[in-house]
Amino acid sequence: MINQFKTFYNDRKRIVEDFILSEITAEIQANFNANLAEAVLYSLNSGGKRLRPVLLLSTYLTTNQTIPKDVLYLAAAVECIHTYSLIHDDLPSMDNDDYRRGVLTCHKKFSEAMAILAGDSLNSFAFYLLSKVVPSSQDLSLHRDLLQLLHQGSGGPGMVSGQVEDIQFEKDFSRFSEETLIKIHTKKTGALFIASMLLGNRLNPNWKELENDIRDYAEKMGLLFQITDDILDEESSFQELGKNTQKDAKIGKLTYPSLLGMEKTKAYRDEIKNYLLEKAKSFCPKANIFFYYLPVYIAERKN
Ligand code: IPE
Ligand code: IPE
Ligand code: MG
Ligand code: MG
Ligand code: MG
Repeated sequence: MINQFKTFYNDRKRIVEDFILSEITAEIQANFNANLAEAVLYSLNSGGKRLRPVLLLSTYLTTNQTIPKDVLYLAAAVECIHTYSLIHDDLPSMDNDDYRRGVLTCHKKFSEAMAILAGDSLNSFAFYLLSKVVPSSQDLSLHRDLLQLLHQGSGGPGMVSGQVEDIQFEKDFSRFSEETLIKIHTKKTGALFIASMLLGNRLNPNWKELENDIRDYAEKMGLLFQITDDILDEESSFQELGKNTQKDAKIGKLTYPSLLGMEKTKAYRDEIKNYLLEKAKSFCPKANIFFYYLPVYIAERKN
């Protein structure tokens, strides 16, 4: 079963990858300043897991058999937001990282100004990609909903506020609590997971029915993902992750391991994983292999 999950994941990742490498790359090359396009494409196509667009496609596929182009525009949009968030997250004024996905970070390869601007352009480009979705004549609120979902996930209500809090709580041990940490993780990472799944769901005819269960699954999946990222920062290596490790402790980041120790962190990780295994049944009646094995894959991932 886990092998079948991996086949689904890899097939969907390839679909996203092909679309970004062809149509999306061509559009950026045709319309952006050439130096800007180079920096944007360097980061966008440097070998990420493409997890958020795969989540989006997989949510759409819970009630559909094939993937129309509209879904691919949404998938590319969330990957553009994700890439922009990483470019800015690595900046000297934020996490100050020199490597990402095994290669130099955008600001190290080009310049700090270029990295800021590459992130800016990916952010607005993502919203532009939503305009390419063609609604059916009856679905008058489609674009409004897509725009709101992406804003809630990526902007002030979601990821950006999470990133602000991640920085505010650095080294300020007096205000640390488990509740605060879960709130930060839910915003900085969970919010874009929620947007990815709800965007995929929004193109389904029965989207209203499934929205609450999908939101809950995506939020917990984001939390599980960030907790494993925090574990890997402490236990893994540059070779395996493609980014420098043991950095969170050095800069005094509020993480699950720094707050509660590794044993409790892993127990909590397993608790969320088991919650998600149960939760998958609520929006995938046939115990959908993808959403059932995803928590196992995320909890056990090595990179
Ligand atoms: C890294 O995300 C940032 C976090 C939210 C922890 P990923 O681990 O999904 O990054 P890529 O896209 O695979 O490089
Ligand atoms: C990043 O979290 C979350 C984002 C919104 C980009 P981290 O700062 O832990 O991600 P890495 O470890 O640099 O990939
Ligand atoms: Mg960070
Ligand atoms: Mg970082
Ligand atoms: Mg990290």
